[in-house]
Amino acid sequence: MTILHIDSSINGENSASRAISRSIVGQLRASDPVSQLVARDLVSEPLPHLTLDAFADTSVLDEFLSADAVVIGAPMYNFTLPTQLKAWLDRILVAGRTFRYTESGPEGLAGGKRVIVALARGGFYDAGSPASALEHLETYLRGVFNFIGIEPEFVAADGLAVSTEQRDESIRLALGETVRLAA
Ligand SMILES: Cc1cc2nc3c(=O)[nH]c(=O)nc-3n(C[C@H](O)[C@H](O)[C@H](O)COP(=O)(O)O)c2cc1C
Repeated sequence: MTILHIDSSINGENSASRAISRSIVGQLRASDPVSQLVARDLVSEPLPHLTLDAFADTSVLDEFLSADAVVIGAPMYNFTLPTQLKAWLDRILVAGRTFRYTESGPEGLAGGKRVIVALARGGFYDAGSPASALEHLETYLRGVFNFIGIEPEFVAADGLAVSTEQRDESIRLALGETVRLAA
């Protein structure tokens, strides 16, 4: 199994999404000791904003397509994903490679791989809550991965900005949840 590990938090060692994505990768590797790991840190090595010229370089897309499992650390910044992660998605959402339009509608072409997303959010965005209309991270990622033929899995740590106690508890629960992913 080839695992692609993507991180996009600007918070370095204090990052919750990095801690959770690291734990997910650890669980996957423990369940398959011969797995290959490819790591891409979108903060220490950011991809430039998309340009037409950038489509000529398919290395990021090829890396994604070659992976059997993709683990993504995705913090919520300003109600959505970090721009670093958006720049990566701009490289993998490519007509003719990961999706195509047909007479019966769009068709995803990237199925058959596992995508697991470690979400970290400062608040709570449960359906029906006052802030739910501002949730453009999980909904967006689910939408784009569905579009290319993948049903992503999520492990979320929420309420991280509410209090130190809430942060510790949410991260503890999320790290615990990563154990079941390897099953
Ligand atoms: C620049 C910035 C913007 C943020 N915007 C939001 C936001 O819109 N909604 C929210 O719930 N939390 C927000 N947060 C809180 C983060 O989601 C929270 O700190 C989370 O732990 C970030 O993940 P990380 O620790 O992996 O970086 C923001 C944090 C930062 C640094």
